[in-house]
Amino acid sequence: MLLTSIGRALPAFLLFTGALGTPVEQRQASVDTFITSQRAVSIEGVLANIGADGSKAQGAAAGIVVASPSRSNPDYWYTWTRDSALTYKALVERFIAGDTTLRKKLDEYVSSQTYLQTVSNPSGGPDTGGLGEPKFNVDRTAFTGAWGRPQRDGPPLRATALTLYANWLIANGNTTQAANTLWPIIAKDLAYAVKYWNQTGFDLWEEVNGSSFFTLAATHRALAEGAALATKLSKTCDGCATAAPQILCFLQGFWTGSYIDSNINVNDGRTGKDVNSIISSIHTLDPASACTSTTFQPCSSRALLNHKAVTDSFRTVYGVNNGIPQGKAVAVGRYSEDVYYNGNPWYLATLAAAEQLYAAVYQWNTIGSITVDSVSLPFFKDLLPSITTGTYASGSATFKSIVSAVTTYGDGYVAVVQKYTPANGGLAEQFDKSSGSPLSAVDLTWSYAAFLTATDRRAGTVGPTWGEKSNNVPPTTCTAPPSCNVQVTFNERATTTFGENVFIVGQLTQLGNWDPNSAIPLSASKYTSSDPLWYATVSLPSSTSFAYKYIRKTSSGTVVWESDPNRSYTTSSGCGSTSTQNDTWR
Ligand code: NOJ
Ligand code: NOJ
Repeated sequence: MLLTSIGRALPAFLLFTGALGTPVEQRQASVDTFITSQRAVSIEGVLANIGADGSKAQGAAAGIVVASPSRSNPDYWYTWTRDSALTYKALVERFIAGDTTLRKKLDEYVSSQTYLQTVSNPSGGPDTGGLGEPKFNVDRTAFTGAWGRPQRDGPPLRATALTLYANWLIANGNTTQAANTLWPIIAKDLAYAVKYWNQTGFDLWEEVNGSSFFTLAATHRALAEGAALATKLSKTCDGCATAAPQILCFLQGFWTGSYIDSNINVNDGRTGKDVNSIISSIHTLDPASACTSTTFQPCSSRALLNHKAVTDSFRTVYGVNNGIPQGKAVAVGRYSEDVYYNGNPWYLATLAAAEQLYAAVYQWNTIGSITVDSVSLPFFKDLLPSITTGTYASGSATFKSIVSAVTTYGDGYVAVVQKYTPANGGLAEQFDKSSGSPLSAVDLTWSYAAFLTATDRRAGTVGPTWGEKSNNVPPTTCTAPPSCNVQVTFNERATTTFGENVFIVGQLTQLGNWDPNSAIPLSASKYTSSDPLWYATVSLPSSTSFAYKYIRKTSSGTVVWESDPNRSYTTSSGCGSTSTQNDTWR
């Protein structure tokens, strides 16, 4: 049966040679054709969304990546640190692979981010948590509206994009630019990561305030390669080398035994099967790595079983997936419980599923063997029902069958994207789960970048190593990082009637995560009619910015919120320090 599938592919091989040099079946020729034209549309789509000269980014400052030109329903006319960094990571890889025309764009990104790091915003100032701000206006001013903040993936993702560029500069005779222009940005992002990695924050989908697998995986990579870059540049990266193994230790706790639980330390009522984890694996691909499960490498047993768990979770929730048998590619969204735009498949999520498969094939070809073990067996069985556990060397028929089947499976995800891509190649954020029509933000930069990276992997193009090999052994026990808390006393003057009580509620776990049922009660022990003081002293993490409000609960249990806007506060950096905030009910 395994031999048959190889045999069947041989005649087609003469006509259509896949970019991997592996035989592809004739019906995939249209995928190849689609990829060629869609790659051209995608690089154009990315560049059109970058200021100052991008055709769809007019008004955005130089080097600023606009998430989408959509100005309403939804309004994505902002620059997100995450989208920008992932996009620029793809551009740097493309530059390294030979597209020298991108040099100016890379340097403009460097300048734009140097500036953005100085902009105080609702997450804090430059040294007090502000780097965790998720998005800015396209003219580089702060966005001050309500948002799920902070998001701690931005700094490590940016550090990684810039580290790739810095290493290229060093290798190409421009250590000065790397040291003087790039390192200062990278150093600030790494310092942020060292300081805050153990604090909760919002996930990449801007919804869940907890510990996100993606954020921590990105942080681990950034600190590992950042420490190495510092050494190369004779700089120091304080705390990077000690935090990295602790984060790796922490990451092991997201593995449930059958999939990665993408969000922990939060009660979000979800399974945790989320493309968050697949995007983590593809982001941390190291071409020099073995299929290491501790770092959830694309070809690792854990990441393969997780790929199955996550993609299977979408089989029954989207009409467009109806009738697609097990083992064949489906449309993939963020997570099955998603309700954003009623919950639909996303182009970048479906492409991430393809990218992991192509990356795994790359890794197997590099390593020269494939190990199927009891963890990964269910993944492989979907594709090759008669496969058994074992290690298959690159010359073997089974090795070839696996590579062929996994490549075909990856092409299936690209074919799903192809099916729901309009004729002009425009990639929106989502496509309708029933009709397949493009939905939400048009021309989403991240969708285009995801197309480029997925098809780069398919062609065997990967970025340089980030040192996974020397950063993949977690310490046997995780030492709890030193907790650094501060005491803040909140004084709220609120005239109340008998039976009413005042509470504080806000964006932090310690403040009930905005849930009135988990709000912190204030004491009325000092309340007088001339000084209606309600107060509480709360222990909060240091150097943290957050939004909060007071609420009152009446004797009948009704919750009354203070009027808008939210209040905001940034705790001091001094461990154990005390401070007081005076507010009056509004
Ligand atoms: C906008 C965010 O960008 C999106 O990810 C989220 O799902 C919605 N807000 C709803 O919170
Ligand atoms: C919503 C997505 O959930 C988030 O990840 C992204 O950063 C923004 N849209 C902008 O594209």
